[in-house]
Amino acid sequence: MRIPLSAPEITEQDIEAVTGVLRTSSLSLGPKLGEFERAISHYVGAADAIAVNSGTSGLHLCIRALGISEGDEVLVPAFTFIAVANAVRYERATPVFVDIEPRTLNLDPSLVEQAITSRTRAIVVVHTFGCPAELTSILQIARRHGLFVIEDACEAIGAEYEGRKVGALGDVGVFAFYPNKQITTGEGGVVVTNNSEIALKVRKLRNQGRDDSAEWFQHTELGYNYRISDINCALGIEQLKRIDSILDKREAIARAYSRTLDADPDLVLPPTALLHRKISWFVYVVRLSDRFEEVQRDWIFHEMKLRGIAVGRYFAPIHLQPVYRLSGERKAGLPVTELHASRTLVLPFFNRIREEEIDEVCQTLVELIRSA
Ligand SMILES: Cc1ncc(COP(=O)(O)O)c(C=O)c1O
Repeated sequence: MRIPLSAPEITEQDIEAVTGVLRTSSLSLGPKLGEFERAISHYVGAADAIAVNSGTSGLHLCIRALGISEGDEVLVPAFTFIAVANAVRYERATPVFVDIEPRTLNLDPSLVEQAITSRTRAIVVVHTFGCPAELTSILQIARRHGLFVIEDACEAIGAEYEGRKVGALGDVGVFAFYPNKQITTGEGGVVVTNNSEIALKVRKLRNQGRDDSAEWFQHTELGYNYRISDINCALGIEQLKRIDSILDKREAIARAYSRTLDADPDLVLPPTALLHRKISWFVYVVRLSDRFEEVQRDWIFHEMKLRGIAVGRYFAPIHLQPVYRLSGERKAGLPVTELHASRTLVLPFFNRIREEEIDEVCQTLVELIRSA
């Protein structure tokens, strides 16, 4: 694609840091792992950070560490990446899908409480597209019902809720660092928590169920190899050093898109400012107005691509995916999720996108909307 959907920003310092690790004999479980974990816990303001090889493995370890298993229910949004529900199913628990609110596309707190049953154990709050979810109400509901709150902050490093960084405001949280994210490790994720028991458990499960203090090859429970290499961590350390300027750049790009598209009556733009919340821009997602159908959205999607502009259609609702439809999970309709999912267009969004490219994307989009 002439204008890609995303692109990581890799500097010479990043490359030097990575090659620096390659010149040592500590490619994994070396000094960069602890350094990356300390840098993340300091940045997020969490007591503990445990780096893993993806956001998905981080979510899985959260579910496992909280003892969630067969027969348990976990409330999750369906308007998100499938990993969120998969992590629940890896432990044979049931994801129960809850609808979202249209403004921020995050879980609708007023629907969360209605979905709670005697089997519910946890709520996974996703900060969708880097926009913080309504945590105060969700934490209150969770406390009232004795539920865990897992923050899926995979798309939201650096986002803030009432002046505090998201991720460690619930019981445990996860960040992800795939190359389309605000900062990247290539592949990777980090679990953060202020609960030392959860931290200990996650650390152990990451490395085949082995206690850090235990003798070599002493495994006290069934664990995984979810380790991340020092090569990935070195990249993460360098990227994290620049996070403030990266987030500023991304905010400027989001504002440029909003300025250019603002007058279009056929588009619903994402909010650029929310009271008591700081958005960490992961992607810029517009929605077509209600007068459009999904087929027109899909036509625009294909036409943009034909013109060399990559666009996305996030998210295809999880509860409508064949792998979930067949599994017989409870699937009441989710009208807000279904409506918005059929109208979204994700626009090219990366640190080095040029002004002319933003203008071209907007112009092409507006022209296509007129012809759709
Ligand atoms: C909301 C959300 N949760 C979980 C993940 C999983 O992260 P990973 O791709 O690193 O496994 C992603 C990845 O994009 C995500 O967007």
